[in-house]
Amino acid sequence: MAKIIGGITTSHIPAIGRAISLNIEETPYWKPFFDGYPPIRKWLGEKKPDVVVLFYNDHGLEFFLNKKPTFSIGVAPQYISADEGWGIATIPPVTGETELSWHICNTLVEDEFDITICQEMKVDHGLTVPLQLMWPGNTYGHIKVIPVCINCEQHPMPSLKRCFNLGRSIAKAIESFDKDLNVVVFGTGGLSHQLDGQRAGFINKPFDLMCMDKIVNQPEELFQYSVRDLVEQAGAQGPELNMWMGMRGVLSGKVTELHRNYHIPISNTGAGTMLLENN
Ligand code: DHB
Ligand code: FE
Repeated sequence: MAKIIGGITTSHIPAIGRAISLNIEETPYWKPFFDGYPPIRKWLGEKKPDVVVLFYNDHGLEFFLNKKPTFSIGVAPQYISADEGWGIATIPPVTGETELSWHICNTLVEDEFDITICQEMKVDHGLTVPLQLMWPGNTYGHIKVIPVCINCEQHPMPSLKRCFNLGRSIAKAIESFDKDLNVVVFGTGGLSHQLDGQRAGFINKPFDLMCMDKIVNQPEELFQYSVRDLVEQAGAQGPELNMWMGMRGVLSGKVTELHRNYHIPISNTGAGTMLLENN
């Protein structure tokens, strides 16, 4: 049976991809941020996951405002990152996973989630920057990635509770999949940030730290925050917390926090990094 071994959270800011390609990780601005990753890379090196279920949001590359699925799942054998206009260097393709992906899709539809199943999908920084962070030198090609994309760009957006339940259903699918695979789950994006408008640059550190505390063993306490509350408390892009909740829903009731880092600002964002082992 496939096994869910743990969850990892990370911000997915395009400037991180640029810093990696320019090799400036050790400069004063970037060092406190990149210092958050070696313990997670070590854990990944020891646990050797076969598959990453990766929650991210598409910022307009594949799904623009003219068509915006609430939840979409990739079932393709490979994903290419395309030019988003951020000036991120070209990186190798991402390896997909087709069997478990379809099994997840079947389970989600049975559980009454209306998903968009993508046999082709361009992927943006939301998916690629986390892979670059976890496998330096862009050595992520051996890992099979299942993209789970949540709408965080155009209202109406799903609630934290609904994303958590999406994760629960994905867990059910993984745990009933008849192959010995080790699966790790990534929740990308966040934490607080606002990229445009009068509050551009808004970051809420106390709210971010509260979310990091709650996500460990009291994730349901975060259900009280509506999408509107998230925009107020954590900025227009604060609803990216939904990807963290999807990740947390895939893990079991109790998890052990093995590592965390929080640093502000990275670009416009409160950058949160966590490693949670599934009990
Ligand atoms: C930034 C953060 C994001 O989550 C994103 O998708 C794009 C940009 C930023 O802080 O620059
Ligand atoms: Fe984002």
